[in-house]
Amino acid sequence: MRRNIVAANWKMNKDVQESYDFTKSLSKKLLNLKRTHIILCPPFTSLFYISELLKNSSIALGGQNMHYEKSGAFTGEISASMLKSSGCDYVILGHSERRHVFNESNELIKKKIDTALSNDLKPIICVGEKLEERQSGKTSEVIRTQYSSAFIGISEQKINQCIIAYEPVWAIGTGITATPEQASEVQGVIRNLVSEQYNREIADSMPILYGGSVKSANAKSLIETENIDGFLVGGASLVVDHFFEIINVVEQFSIGQEK
Ligand code: PGA
Repeated sequence: MRRNIVAANWKMNKDVQESYDFTKSLSKKLLNLKRTHIILCPPFTSLFYISELLKNSSIALGGQNMHYEKSGAFTGEISASMLKSSGCDYVILGHSERRHVFNESNELIKKKIDTALSNDLKPIICVGEKLEERQSGKTSEVIRTQYSSAFIGISEQKINQCIIAYEPVWAIGTGITATPEQASEVQGVIRNLVSEQYNREIADSMPILYGGSVKSANAKSLIETENIDGFLVGGASLVVDHFFEIINVVEQFSIGQEK
């Protein structure tokens, strides 16, 4: 059975003290958490400090981005080994803000994914269509292109290190969530792409998260839907109680599944 995952993408929010306070408070609330895997992706500046706090905890840390080169004259960038040495096991790659605000191409994202995997960092690979692409019936095509570019050449050994997040661009930070049916349909397309490239068993074990205006009020209907294995949460991950409520929904669902 796939493990349910809830990841927090804080984006450019929270200084070191705020990150620390949040993490401390969340850790206390999660003491009895058994089924759901939690990943916090704070800004780079908070990573190392939080990692010290999380030393004996099951909460994992991820970066929000990285460069594909090992080191060198890339002002403002950070490398995979820097993330690793700051306590990260994960890195978000191909987030729509990276794609559309910072013009990252599929080719660039692919280089980052390969670098992450060869440095033992698990990439959370985001894919998603823009509103106009959905409206013109191009959703599956866009997802297929983003998927193919990201996964080409990834071996069967490495594929189980990857997490996919379906994040429709029109749902991110807008308060508009994809309906469970819309999300499930696209996530089914993604699972079939994994199955076509590898096999059904690998596809069935691949965690596919949904992201885009997830909150506690819509988390239940989404997590109960086929093909949704958890969430990548932006805005609602900034307030510890809100984030905890989402985790709780997923945890209760996971417990129910095991009965
Ligand atoms: P949101 O962001 O939950 O604020 O919509 C999700 C994301 O960008 O990962």
